[in-house]
Amino acid sequence: MDKFTTHQYDVVIIGAGGAGLRAAIEASAQGAKTAIICKSLLGKAHTVMAEGGVAASLGNVDDRDNWQTHFRDTMKGGKYLNQWRMAELHAQESPDRVNELEEWGAVFDRTKKGKILQRNFGGHTYPRLAHVGDRTGLELLRTLQDRGVHAGIDVFMEYTVRKILKEDGTVSGCVAYQRETGQFSVFNAKAVVIATGGTGRCWEVTSNSWEYTADGHALAMWAGADLMDMEFVQFHPTGMMWPPSVKGTLITEGVRGEGGILKNSEGKRFMFDNVPDMFMGDYAETEEEANGWVKAVVAGKIPKERRPPELLTRDVVARAIRREVLAGRGAPHGGVYLDIATRRPAEEIKKKLPSMYHQFKQLADVDITKEPMEVGPTCHYTMGGVKVDPETQESTIPGLFACGEVAAGLHGANRLGGNSLSDLLVFGKRAGEHASKFAAGRSDFPRVNENDVNDLLKESLKPFNESDGENPYAISEDLQKMMQLNVGIVRTESELQFALEEIKKLRVRAATTKVGGNVQFNPGWHLALDLNNMLDISEVVAKAALLRQESRGAHTREDYPNSEDDWGDVNLVVNGRGESVEVEKKPLAKPPAELQELLNK
Ligand code: FUM
Repeated sequence: MDKFTTHQYDVVIIGAGGAGLRAAIEASAQGAKTAIICKSLLGKAHTVMAEGGVAASLGNVDDRDNWQTHFRDTMKGGKYLNQWRMAELHAQESPDRVNELEEWGAVFDRTKKGKILQRNFGGHTYPRLAHVGDRTGLELLRTLQDRGVHAGIDVFMEYTVRKILKEDGTVSGCVAYQRETGQFSVFNAKAVVIATGGTGRCWEVTSNSWEYTADGHALAMWAGADLMDMEFVQFHPTGMMWPPSVKGTLITEGVRGEGGILKNSEGKRFMFDNVPDMFMGDYAETEEEANGWVKAVVAGKIPKERRPPELLTRDVVARAIRREVLAGRGAPHGGVYLDIATRRPAEEIKKKLPSMYHQFKQLADVDITKEPMEVGPTCHYTMGGVKVDPETQESTIPGLFACGEVAAGLHGANRLGGNSLSDLLVFGKRAGEHASKFAAGRSDFPRVNENDVNDLLKESLKPFNESDGENPYAISEDLQKMMQLNVGIVRTESELQFALEEIKKLRVRAATTKVGGNVQFNPGWHLALDLNNMLDISEVVAKAALLRQESRGAHTREDYPNSEDDWGDVNLVVNGRGESVEVEKKPLAKPPAELQELLNK
C-alpha cells in the first residue's frame, strides 16, 4: 500500500463525542481550519449514555439553586480532590452553555411556565438536570453535530489515531489509520485536542461500547503528557444484569430521580442503612419522609422533606448494592431490584423514561411499568485522565489539549451524574478556544518527523508478520475479566499486586499477537492495536490504586477502609516518559479563602 497520505489543519480534534464536537465548533468559530477524527461514525459516542440530563444551576424548578451550590456539590461529590478552579469555572459557565445549546436547537423538556425543566439526580442539592426525557446525551450530540457540520468542519470518520507527533517538544500533529482501508494518514497540525472519552472497555461489565479502549489516555501518556487521578474509576450503580448479551447497559439515574427505589431480595429498601457520615442529615431517614419528597416533586412543589437515599452519590449506591449481593440478598442474576412500577403511573413512566421502557421491553422482555428491573454496577466513567491547565485545557505538552472524560481534574474522586455533559460543554469550548489561539500563534506548520511515522507504520503492521502468536480477542477478554475481579469497585493490596503480575503476563502474550487477512476491514487487527492502550492504561490504574492507601470516592480499599487526612490533599500524577510508568504524589491546589468558606458551610 502507499505509505501514507498527509493533511494539514490548524487544529485537529481527536474524538467526536460532545467534548470533541464542542471544541471543534469553537476552534472553527475562532477562524482555525479544523478537522475532527473519530474512531466510529459521527454521532456514535458515549455522550449518549449520559441519558438523564446536563447539570446547570439554572434555578428553573427551585430558584434557590446557584453556581455556588453547584460548585459545593461537585467538590463534595469528588471528596474534595477536585481541581477547585475547574469546579468553579464549570459551575459558573454551565448555565450559559446549556442556554446556548437551546439557542442552537436542542429541544429540552419544559416546566409549565415554558422554562427548561430540571430533574433531581444523586448528590445535587436541587433539581438541576436539564433534560430531554432520558435521551439528553443523544439530543446534545445531535445539536452539536448539526452546528458542527454547518460550520464547515472536516470530519474523518472511522479513523483510529495511533500516535501524537511532536517536534522540539511541541505538538506537530498525529498519525491515524482508516479502519475500512487500513490506509495511514498523517495529520500535520499546529494544535491537537484529545477528546476520546474513557477507558471502560478495560473492564468486563461496562456501559462503554467498543470504541472506549483508553486510546486518548494512552496517546497522551506515550507522547509524554502527565495523567492524573487514574485510580478513580466510576461504577454506575445501575446497569442491566440480564440477559447476558446486554449486561452492563446503562439504566439512567433518572429512574431514581423520578422516584424509583432500590430493594433487595427480602423486599427491604436498603439505602436507608447506607448513608455515610459526610452525608448524614442531608437525606431522608424514613420511608414516609422519602415518599413525601417524591410526592412534592411530582406535584411540582419545593419539598420540605429531605431527598431519598437512593439519590446518594454513585460510589455510595454502587457499594451498597455490592454489599447486599455479597450478603446473599441479591436478585437471581447478581443484582438488586429497581422499582419504578409501584411508584409512578404507567403513562408517566413512559413519558419521563421512554428509552428505559423500550430498552427493557425489547432487550429483556420486562415491562418496567409493571415489574421491577434487575440492576447492578457497571463501569461507566473514568475520573482520571490527562492533567490539564484549568483555564486552557492544555496538557503538560505545548500544543496538546484535552477535554471531556479524557481530561482529569473537575470530578476529583467521584463524578456527580449530569456533570459529564456540562463538563464537555464548558471545557470543550475552552479547549477549542485555546487550541485555536495556540495555532494562531504559530506562523508555519511544524515539521513532521518522517522517521517517527515510518517506525509507527512498521510497529502497527507487526501482527500480520507473527507466525504463531495468539488471537487478540482471547487476550482482551482475559484482561477485562482480570480487571473486573481485581481492580473493580473494591480493591485490596494483594488483588492489585496480582493484577500487575497478570498484566506483565498479558503483555508477553500481546507482544506476539497474530492476525490473519490484510489491513482492509480487519477488526482483529484493530483490537490487536487497541490492546497496547488497554494494557498500558490498566497498569496505570492498578499502580495508582495500589499507591493510594485509603478509601475515597470511587476508590475503595478493603484493607484501608477510611478516608485519611494525609491523602486528602494529594493527587497521584502518572508519567510514562521513561522506561516504566511512575506514579507520584503531588500536592493538591487549595481553593482561595472565599471558596473554602463556601465548602466549610
Ligand atoms: O444515569 C445517567 O443518566 C447518566 C448520566 C451521567 O453519567 O452523567
